[in-house]
Formats: sequence, C-alpha cells, structure tokens
Amino acid sequence: MPHVLVVDDEPGVRESLRMLLKDEFDVTPVGDVDAALAVLDERAVDAVLLDLVMPGRTGIDFLRELAERNDTPPVIVLSATRAVATAVEAMKLGAADFVTKPFDVDALRIKVRKLFEHRALEQEVVRLRDAVAGRTRLGRLIGQSEAMRAVFRTIERVAASRANVLISGESGTGKELVARAIHDLGPRRDERFVVVNCAAIPATLMESELFGHEKGAFTDASMRHVGKFETAHGGTLFLDEIGEMTPAMQAKLLRALQERTIERLGGAQSIAVDVRVVAATNRDLEREVAQGRFRSDLFYRIHVVPIALPALRERREDVRLLAEAFLTRARDEAGRGPRRFEPETLIALERYAWPGNVRELENAIERAVTLTEGDTIAPTDLPDEVQIASRTESLRDEVRAGRVDLESAVLRFESELIREALERSKGNQTRASEQLGITRRLLKLKMDRCGIGAAAGEEAAPSEPD
Ligand SMILES: Nc1ncnc2c1ncn2[C@@H]1O[C@H](COP(=O)(O)OP(=O)(O)OP(=O)(O)O)[C@@H](O)[C@H]1O
Ligand SMILES: [Mg+2]
Repeated sequence: MPHVLVVDDEPGVRESLRMLLKDEFDVTPVGDVDAALAVLDERAVDAVLLDLVMPGRTGIDFLRELAERNDTPPVIVLSATRAVATAVEAMKLGAADFVTKPFDVDALRIKVRKLFEHRALEQEVVRLRDAVAGRTRLGRLIGQSEAMRAVFRTIERVAASRANVLISGESGTGKELVARAIHDLGPRRDERFVVVNCAAIPATLMESELFGHEKGAFTDASMRHVGKFETAHGGTLFLDEIGEMTPAMQAKLLRALQERTIERLGGAQSIAVDVRVVAATNRDLEREVAQGRFRSDLFYRIHVVPIALPALRERREDVRLLAEAFLTRARDEAGRGPRRFEPETLIALERYAWPGNVRELENAIERAVTLTEGDTIAPTDLPDEVQIASRTESLRDEVRAGRVDLESAVLRFESELIREALERSKGNQTRASEQLGITRRLLKLKMDRCGIGAAAGEEAAPSEPD
C-alpha cells in the first residue's frame, strides 16, 4: 500500500483524512513540520498532504526543506481559500497540486489517487518503451558466445534470490549492465537500484554516503543525510569498484551486511535495512585478499555468487553481434547514417584486441556512424589502432600460412609504421623520427630500404628477398 504522510496541526482534520484514505493508503498523520521531517527520515513516503498554516514552522518551511533534499515525494497542499498567495508560493516551491479547505472529500481522494496513477503510468511508459526498443529480459545485454550464455544463465538463476553477487571483469566488459539485469529480473525490480561508485567517493565521505549522518555529526553536517543503504531499502545496492574501499570502510560494510542494520554517523539508534548487494570490481579480488589488501571475511560475504565477465578478446564471436546492435542503435539515435559494414570492416573489428572491451567497441561504432558519409562503413572509418592491428594481424596470418617469410613480414610492418608516422607528420621527417623514437638518419636509411620516397606517400614496391 502506498504510504501517505498527512501534516496538519488540527487533530480533527488529521483524523478525517486518515479515515478518508485508510482503505487505499497506509496513512501516517502528524501535527507539525518537525514530526513530518522525522517520518521522512525514517520511512519511505510516497505522497504528502500538507497544511500550510501551522503554528511554529509552516508548510512553506517544510517545502523549502524538501527542496534541499533529493528523492522527495510529491506534495498536495491543503490551503484555506483565503491564502491564495501562499498556495501560489507553495506551487512554486514544487508542490504537485493543491486543494482548498474545507475540502471536497471526493475531489481530494481523486487527487491523491491521480498522483499514484500518474506515477504508475510513467513506469508503464518506461516499460513499454523498453519493450518496443527490443530489449529482452536481460535488458540491453547482448552476446552469443558460450561464455556469455553461461553468464546469462547465472543472472536468471540468481535474480530471484537475495544472494550477494560479485561481478568481476576488465573495464568496459558490462559489469554495470549485468548488475542492472540482476535487479530488473528479480522480485525487487520495482524498488530502487542504487549505485555507489567506491572509486569516485573520497574515503572521508564514504561512510556518510553509505550510512548517512545526523545533523551535526561533523562540521559540515548542517542537515540530516540519508545514506545509500537506506535509500536502497527493499531494493538493490550496487557497490561499483568495491576493491577501492579502504580497510576501515570494509569493516563497516561487513558489519552492515552481517547485522542487516546500519547506524547513521552521529546517530544513536540502529536502523534495519533490507538490501540486496551486488558488487563489482575490475581487480583480482582473490589476489587482493591473498595480499592482505581486502578483508577475506568481506570477500566471502559478497562473493556468494561470482560472475566473471570475460574480456571481449576472449569472445570474439560476440564482436559482430555487438557491432551490428551498436550500428542499429546509433543510426536510430542519429536518424541517419550508414546501414552496413563492409565485410573487411567486420574482419578488422574481430581481429582487434579491444583493451577497452565492449565500451571501446561501442565508441568506435558510434564514431564510425558519425564519420561515414555513404551507406557502408569501411575499414578506414575505424579508429587508427583498429586499422593498424588489423593489418599486422593479417600479416601474421600470412606468415603462419607460409605465404610470406619473416624477413619480408618485418620489413612490411616496419614500412607501414614509417608510412603512418610520415602521414601524421605530413612528410616532416624530423617529427616522424621523433615519434618513432629513432634518429632522423636511421629513419632515412629505413625509408630507403623500404623504398619509401622522401615525399610522403611516394614509394616504390618494397624489396622482397626471396
Ligand atoms: N553484453 C553487452 N551487450 C550490450 N552492451 C554492452 C554489453 N557489455 C557492455 N555493454 C556496453 O558497454 C558499455 C560499458 O558497460 P559497463 O558500464 O556495464 O561496463 P563496466 O564493466 O561497468 O565498465 P567499468 O569497469 O569501466 O565501469 C556500456 O555502454 C554498456 O551498455
Ligand atoms: Mg562500471
């Protein structure tokens, strides 16, 4: 049942609102602003009915206070007809709607209901949009390699449980997508998915970020802050880059996971939290444990279900599928662009080692879609490093197949690098030699041997000893 907070100084009004709404909503009535803020700190509130004129702090003060926070519920203002100016101010401060007192019972109930219908509608729109975009049960995750299929099976299996999951993999392998898929497939899908990037938050702020703090807990704590653990209550907490956590924080996190309660900094009471934790790391956490940099007890607690994402170069059969999907998406987004890859382009994509994994591939395709004028993406539309790697790789294939001997392969490789350096320096040999880390004399010597002319691009056929 949605939780509605009623704030009004008149007990009679509070009671009648409670009676009016109690069949459809879980109602908490309070008599002043301080009590209302305390409820917001303790529990998730889905909507607020707020009286404006109250002794002590007013409804306007409450709205100002809300404006400073994030993730606040919508507010319906209850105002006496005389106070129109105040009602206008309330709307400016972000109130969603208002009703005039004495209120029409049906009108009020309809307004509250509409608030929730609107939210449900928004969620439905998101769901439908995803469905239309062809997103599957696994969200945007794509892959047909055996390694990825195994990952998908694990995701489907663990999504239903509350088990803590540790996702490991190099940068750009899709750890965050996997974490989201686990959340979206599980019973918590309608609750929050809260991300904490442990690498991005300074160690000194981490505790308050995770557990929150009370007003005055430290010098800068001018307001009470609800931490990510509490925000994620009922949902999933994604601890990205958990390997970066300091030993002190590791100990506190372990306690929170064991006890399933947290304490805000400067707070006296423990707060029960029901949170599913999914963590990710691009480090080898097992080694970090062996070297004493990561607590083993915490490791075992988050490592209940391990998911290791293979690097893209270890599943080259996914490259084509991913590339096609990114092409379609980039085209749809731009409303223009090439439709296909040349066969050579796909081969080049498959040959490259993708040190930045799927993210690097995604960027390369997006860039190619912007650059390509025609209907097909040529190898030359790909980033330099992909083109170079592809050429050396094809040379390697020819050596392996015995079609080219080592000596001429090395020569060809050398001449290719020299030509590229000259192209980049627009024929300036001094700059090209600096870039290659050799003297200008040596560059000249090599250019002669490879048959590269002094004017860049002018060349004779490389001499091939047989
Ligand atoms: N299997 C996949 N299918 C489709 N897109 C993917 C896949 N894997 C990764 N991506 C895309 O690649 C990009 C990087 O993915 P993500 O952010 O999940 O990686 P990560 O492992 O968390 O990287 P990092 O360690 O750098 O944070 C995202 O834009 C994501 O959409
Ligand atoms: Mg990530």
